[in-house]
Amino acid sequence: MTATAPSRVAAPPPPRHIAIIMDGNGRWAKRRLLPRALGHRQGAEAVRRTVSACGEMGVSYLTLYAFSSENWKRPPEEVDDLMSLLRHYLRNEVAELNARNVRLRVIGDRTRLSDDVVALVNESEALTANNTGLTLVLALNYGAQAEITAAVREIARKAKAGLIDPEAVTEATVAEHLLTRDIPDPDLIIRTSGEQRLSNFLLWQAAYAELVFVPCLWPDFDRDALEAALADYQQRERRFGGR
Ligand code: FPP
Repeated sequence: MTATAPSRVAAPPPPRHIAIIMDGNGRWAKRRLLPRALGHRQGAEAVRRTVSACGEMGVSYLTLYAFSSENWKRPPEEVDDLMSLLRHYLRNEVAELNARNVRLRVIGDRTRLSDDVVALVNESEALTANNTGLTLVLALNYGAQAEITAAVREIARKAKAGLIDPEAVTEATVAEHLLTRDIPDPDLIIRTSGEQRLSNFLLWQAAYAELVFVPCLWPDFDRDALEAALADYQQRERRFGGR
């Protein structure tokens, strides 16, 4: 009698592109009677954990909503705290990201960022440009409506100059004028903290993304929470409008 080999079911591949709305830093701090700045600091720890986990799992793209175009409405001290964390991350952690073959990209309107942050972004992108592992996309001063408006403006300009036939404008034309023109659309968008909104994040690119809303606050997000979100995603049947 021949023994039957144990059946091996390959684990489904991870999504190619995960995008995360990191929400709940303030509530995490409030529950502990701590200043909001400490919530954001713990949020930066969750960024480190998530970047490592995604790199190890073989995810190709991870986009993090680090600062929205609406975040300027927060009190100046909080905006300063968030910008300091970003500066710290770009100054002190990009060498490590580079050693781990991570390519860093930034999407968003850079014109309102301070010169030193723009310089750090440019240096980080240049240093990691040829890496072939995880692409970490930081959305900084990013807003999807502004992104789509800028794309429409540019297409209109080209049409006026006779470079584009308005009748030939397709979804692909719009996609090619977005900040994400060379980044695949997200397969999975996770939002932490229980809120169920997209908050002006990747509105065009989210057309067929699976949305997973998790109750945990962003500073508590860890590998287990990521794996639970992936398990949820993997049970979904993606139809892209077909049957
Ligand atoms: C939302 O929490 C989070 C943000 C506005 C910013 C996210 C920033 C970080 C995670 C820290 C730094 C990032 C990097 C890439 C180093 P909230 O303040 O809106 O929370 P609340 O809704 O509970 O008040």
